[in-house]
Amino acid sequence: MNPRSKTIALITGATGGLGTAMCQKLSRDGYTVVANYRNETKAQEWKAKNKELGFDFNMVKGDVTDFDDMGRMMAEVKDAFGGVSILINNAGITRDTPIWKMTKEQWHDVISSNLNSVFNCTRHVIEDMIEQGFGRIINISSVNGQRGQFGQVNYSAAKAGMHGFTKSLAMEVAKKGITVNTISPGYIGTDMVMAIREEVRNKIVEQIPMGRLGGTEEIAHLVSFLASEKAAYITGANYAINGGQHVY
Ligand code: CAA
Repeated sequence: MNPRSKTIALITGATGGLGTAMCQKLSRDGYTVVANYRNETKAQEWKAKNKELGFDFNMVKGDVTDFDDMGRMMAEVKDAFGGVSILINNAGITRDTPIWKMTKEQWHDVISSNLNSVFNCTRHVIEDMIEQGFGRIINISSVNGQRGQFGQVNYSAAKAGMHGFTKSLAMEVAKKGITVNTISPGYIGTDMVMAIREEVRNKIVEQIPMGRLGGTEEIAHLVSFLASEKAAYITGANYAINGGQHVY
């Protein structure tokens, strides 16, 4: 096997807080990082900022909610770098509100971005992974997919669905050198969490036994381990990283 084929890591939603930490960590680990984004202006600022920090990321635009667009994007990535060997399904959004106020759009947008996206991306790389006999798929879910959260029927449903996908796909590709795992972060200090109203957020932090939000790099370290060849026997697992907020 071409040794390069184990080193192409594609991260969706790369310009967010978790995505950035993952890109930086995998880059430091020596992977060729391909950063997916949707918003051009934000992506260019992100690239420039990372360049100042010493990271020169490859960027690829694409809408994870669009199956055909992901087909186009993955084909472009393959032409430019070779087949994706590590896929991190990280893109996600929130549209928090109790169900009695939730619109059809708020439901569909969250299911499309957080769950349909996992199929849309994985479907277009899985055959190459099978062919090369190696692959790592890491789905970034949430503590709220494990335990539920007031105001998040859409998000919790999508995040719980991600792990169902993980478990089934893990079985399907277990003999092909491909592992599929879920990480379920708790409340991490990203823009998404900082957008929660302050008094609501403070109450949430009070419920975390460690008494603090998680750091993005704390998630990135686990991504790095699961992406490595050392993690070859771990598949179908769901790793909680939540400061003790949800133990089971
Ligand atoms: N449990 C029970 N009741 C609750 C509640 C809770 N957790 N939160 C709010 N309520 C109740 C309130 O007490 C209030 O009741 P009354 O009308 O009887 O007084 C009612 O619900 C309305 O509450 P709000 O004033 O907060 O309503 P709102 O419409 O302004 O806001 C909300 C609703 C947007 C869901 C807001 O409560 C909120 O932001 N909650 C946090 C949601 C959250 O944790 N999101 C995570 C985002 S980050 C993320 O998703 C990353 C990750 O993976 C962890």
